[in-house]
Amino acid sequence: MAKEKVDKSLKPLEKIIYNGANWNEKEDDYTQSFYEQNLSQFWRPEDIALQPDLNVWHILPDEVKDAYAKNLLVLTFLDTHQGDIGMPVVARSLDEHFHQRKAVINFMASMENAVHAKSYSNIFMTYMTANDIDQLFIWGENHKNLQSIMTQIVGYYKELDRYNYLKKFDTDHASFSEVGFAIAQWKAMVASVFLETWLFYSGFYYPLFFYGQGKLMQAGEIINLILRDESIHGLYIGRLAQEIYETFDNQKQDELQTWMYEFLLSLYHEQNELVESIYDAVDLSHDVKVFVRYNANKALMNLGFDPYFEYEEVNPVVLNGLNTETKTMDNFSMKGNGYQKMKSEMLKDADFIFPNKKIIDFGDK
Ligand SMILES: [Fe+2]
Ligand SMILES: [Fe+2]
Repeated sequence: MAKEKVDKSLKPLEKIIYNGANWNEKEDDYTQSFYEQNLSQFWRPEDIALQPDLNVWHILPDEVKDAYAKNLLVLTFLDTHQGDIGMPVVARSLDEHFHQRKAVINFMASMENAVHAKSYSNIFMTYMTANDIDQLFIWGENHKNLQSIMTQIVGYYKELDRYNYLKKFDTDHASFSEVGFAIAQWKAMVASVFLETWLFYSGFYYPLFFYGQGKLMQAGEIINLILRDESIHGLYIGRLAQEIYETFDNQKQDELQTWMYEFLLSLYHEQNELVESIYDAVDLSHDVKVFVRYNANKALMNLGFDPYFEYEEVNPVVLNGLNTETKTMDNFSMKGNGYQKMKSEMLKDADFIFPNKKIIDFGDK
């Protein structure tokens, strides 16, 4: 008699007890602080009016406009995929009981595309024609180095996505193991921190360069708000990555370090060529590469490793623009990254009583 085939996809469902996020109990001693910080920093792209920049934008030479727009396009691509897959896949990889950690990462995920990428588009829509915007996106889709960076970073997100599926539905699969899952999870977090704390910064350099000189201040303000977000994203994911790394034995840690530095150098190579393709035209490639190395070191530190590159002085104009301390600004011209959201309360009938006037009736009689 022929053997009955076992269909693994039809495993009897395990009984799952669902629970909920109980914010009364801390999951660890830092996630709720990151929650508070993330939510207190919330902002919307439309909070910053970009029109005041136009008088400066319109008199810039074409090669300067071109470099500025291309940098924001690079940032758009990175932020889009960080929101679409990077952050969500890391959130899903966390054990089911980490509801608060997942909430923090999901919040970060929604900022990446819905706020950050949208803000870059707002800048494009204010500064450029629809045709120029289309051409810019086509440039990015065809840029060898940008596509290679995306392929490498998103590749680690997809690998974790695959492991998330196997862990949930197919742990008997030949390519699944718990340690394999943890490695995929850690590598995706390394990719995430490299993106957040390092790769973004070659794109931030140019807007900060202008901001530090008092030019294109509204766009610079947006960049300041974005990098304030990215800095806590990189810190948080770096912290989670360190916890996972500590679970590996010494031999595995050595292997993973070797992988990480190879990954770093591969991205560094692509990043340098990307920088040259944008910044050579405005004679800033050398300075930007210093900034790239400076931020690569910061990303490594977020992941719990020593700096890789020698310390170098970064252009003080850019450091001036990079200072994310609360700025005191004229709230009528721009928001400032330390702005307070308006506090609101419910309207009452009494609010519509004016001296010598009757209550305004909003009834539809
Ligand atoms: Fe972002
Ligand atoms: Fe981010």
